Amino acid sequence: YREEIPKDRGIDNSIKLLLEGYQYISNRREKFGRDIFETRVLGGQKAICIAGEEAVKTFYDTKKITRKGAAPKRIRQTLFGEQAIQTVDGEPHRHRKELFMSLMTKERLQDITELFGQQLEQEMAEWSKKRNVILYEEIVHILTKVACEWTGIQLADEDVPKRANELEGIFDSAGAIGVRHWKGRTARNIVENWLRRLIREVRNGEIIAPKDTPLYIMAWYQDKDGKLLNEQIVAVELLNILRPIVAISVYITFIALALHEHPQEKEKLQMGGEEYTDYFVQEVRRFYPFFPMLMAKVSEDFLWNGHDFRKGNLVLLDIYGTNHHPDLWEEPYRFIPERFKKREENFYDFIPQGGGDYYRGHRCPGEWMTIELMKVATQCLIHTIDYQVPKQNLTYSMIRFPSLPKSRFVISDIKVIK
Ligand code: HEM
Repeated sequence: YREEIPKDRGIDNSIKLLLEGYQYISNRREKFGRDIFETRVLGGQKAICIAGEEAVKTFYDTKKITRKGAAPKRIRQTLFGEQAIQTVDGEPHRHRKELFMSLMTKERLQDITELFGQQLEQEMAEWSKKRNVILYEEIVHILTKVACEWTGIQLADEDVPKRANELEGIFDSAGAIGVRHWKGRTARNIVENWLRRLIREVRNGEIIAPKDTPLYIMAWYQDKDGKLLNEQIVAVELLNILRPIVAISVYITFIALALHEHPQEKEKLQMGGEEYTDYFVQEVRRFYPFFPMLMAKVSEDFLWNGHDFRKGNLVLLDIYGTNHHPDLWEEPYRFIPERFKKREENFYDFIPQGGGDYYRGHRCPGEWMTIELMKVATQCLIHTIDYQVPKQNLTYSMIRFPSLPKSRFVISDIKVIK
């Protein structure tokens, strides 16, 4: 069967998308009573917005949907980088994804978990000497150090603030226009330059990177034809590791907010052991806004849900809305970690870091690492320190990508209890 799908009228709804942010798609889905509708964005291009489990399955069907040519230039100039894995498909994607996944061994995940735990405990002792600290900024610094060390990059202590500021600038500019966009672009150019230099130095033997680190592995990685990847691509992909590790600071700030907004969680975490920590972290990833949506293009005509998807149409997958879909989640707008207790593994209904298969599709290769580092942060906030949350503006925007509590979460009266 074929049927008309609802349309969000207008020759270009980009402004509405910016003004309604995370809820642009959900608002219309609610109004139309459908999980599919048509709109026009980015200079009037036709885009089909979809949400829900079946939508995720379709979106990750690589025979129908492609990423090639889908990401807007301003996102490639800031968040992704040119020719990054996010924009590649087919065999070349599979080959490069294999590289990313090979970095995420149990041993190496344990390395970064331990490294982060040590650094965080050490810094927490320093915080206790100050009147207060801005949690988000502290975590950005710590994760910059940890990301570089784990990646095989030596970073002098005095360079941490500069690199932290640049890496933060790159992901903070994700959905930005104007000054924030330009800050992100400039930061990307500076960091790519720095990484290209490091790659050259590894290749000509000036610096020795440990064999199991991304710096070493990526510098010597060969493409399908046996050629080394060009310097620029290696720089972009190394940045595809450094940047998102530092971005975990956003989730960690939301962890602190969740503990503050739901004080009973603290006790549950103290009693519930690792299992409950896991539910809690998953619920933080489900509940708070991070990635609003994903964008791709139809690569071959197909019919789905009564609608003709035509080659070249844009497809927007509603990430935030799928994680709050009433068919998938009971009381989706309540924070209930226990909901993860009885959940069966499903690659299509819980998609804060993308859905589908890690190896064949674009699902985030850093998902396990993100979860592990979030667990460490949760444990340290509960067991390592005691602190107060002074009066401040903790609201977070639903139209800023990425979102973050306005005050960036100030804590005071910090005492080390462990
Ligand atoms: C892809 C979210 C952390 C590396 C993605 C995607 C999302 C996402 C939504 C897109 C999935 C798709 O296009 O289908 C997040 C969030 C994180 C995070 C919310 C928390 C901070 C990480 C970490 C790493 C990482 C820690 C690496 C260490 C990547 C890479 C891709 C990706 C390389 C592209 C994969 C591909 O195109 O095949 N992430 N991510 N991310 N992420 Fe993450």
